[in-house]
Amino acid sequence: MKILITGGCGFIGSNFIHYVLRHHEDWQVVNLDKLTYAGNLANLKDVEGDPRYKFVKGDIADRELVSRLFQEEKFDAVVNFAAESHVDRSILDPSPFIETNVKGTQVLLEAARQYKVERFIQISTDEVYGSLGETGKFTEESPLQPNSPYAASKAAADLLCRAYYKAYGVPVIITRSSNNYGPYQFPEKLIPLMIRNALAGKELPVYGEGKNVRDWLYVEDNCRAIDLVLERGRVGEVYNIGGNCEKRNIEVVNAICEILKNHHLTQHLTPKIRFIKDPRGAAHDYRYALDCSKIKSALGWEPQVSFEHGLKRTVEWYLANQAWMESVITGEYQEYYQKVYGANG
Ligand code: NAD
Ligand code: TYD
Repeated sequence: MKILITGGCGFIGSNFIHYVLRHHEDWQVVNLDKLTYAGNLANLKDVEGDPRYKFVKGDIADRELVSRLFQEEKFDAVVNFAAESHVDRSILDPSPFIETNVKGTQVLLEAARQYKVERFIQISTDEVYGSLGETGKFTEESPLQPNSPYAASKAAADLLCRAYYKAYGVPVIITRSSNNYGPYQFPEKLIPLMIRNALAGKELPVYGEGKNVRDWLYVEDNCRAIDLVLERGRVGEVYNIGGNCEKRNIEVVNAICEILKNHHLTQHLTPKIRFIKDPRGAAHDYRYALDCSKIKSALGWEPQVSFEHGLKRTVEWYLANQAWMESVITGEYQEYYQKVYGANG
């Protein structure tokens, strides 16, 4: 099988490429990535020489390039991770989110239609469902009620996928996962940002009172689920993929501090939490939680890595890869950080 993986130089995409090459000896992978601020070739350094792996630098919204690639490579399947993925950036400027997440997805769908791929996996998010109160969980039937430009662009892409399935029979399957964490996550997201700040002796900026709830999923559990959906999922379906692990943000940050306090390399640190004015305002979803009974009964998938274990592994990885962390942070990151966190940073 030859698969096109888009956004393979990002967090989940690079973990997925590692997963695929480890688990499928005879698969070939082409990674199409634009190398935005979030994409790093360093994430795949160890597979560069693998004859089953090929990297192509390019934009999924570039119709000509995408069409040429499909024609030349004759993909059996597509897994579309490529996206602008950060809520705070989408509030600062939605335009690149529309360009990549909406238009880019449509360009890929069109190529999949023209070149008749057998499977198109759209990597979506629980954020398309909007926000929950204290109780309840989203099922695959829950209405799409996105609140941030990021979530709206992902919901739009999901609807295009549905339409390409209905109108043209493109064999699309959508996965909607909850918040992932693990190695190679860019330090704009909660967990790696807190780890980095703690290591750099900076304060840990918690939005509002830190009461918002996210459902945390170790990235390797997500990769296993996506792999199962790719091989055995039913076309036209949506699958929720959650960690069954709801935590308030402040609990997550405290758990990171606790791990650092007990680690021989970091026990000298004294991380300080700072509660800051919420930069997301009304677009800040209060709570996400997913009902994952569908993927459990259809494909036998359940998360395997506990939050305690996954978070320890994650902190260990960042401690062992501080050079990676510093290499992915550029002047652009400092500028972005200043915009969101301002004097609070
Ligand atoms: P990321 O920001 O770490 O990586 C995105 C990758 O896409 C980068 O390598 C970037 O260079 C590439 N990219 C961006 N625009 C592109 C374009 N126009 N053409 C080609 N490549 C482009 O993102 P991530 O956290 O790995 O998320 C991957 C996917 O999973 C996204 O679609 C996201 O919406 C979805 N998702 C993420 C999470 C999460 O917790 N991180 C949860 C649910 C769903
Ligand atoms: P994030 O990792 O950006 O994921 P998402 O918004 O897509 O769920 O944020 C997770 C939660 O952490 C969210 O409620 C916002 C909060 N948060 C902070 O409190 N401080 C921060 O510096 C960041 C990046 C996030």
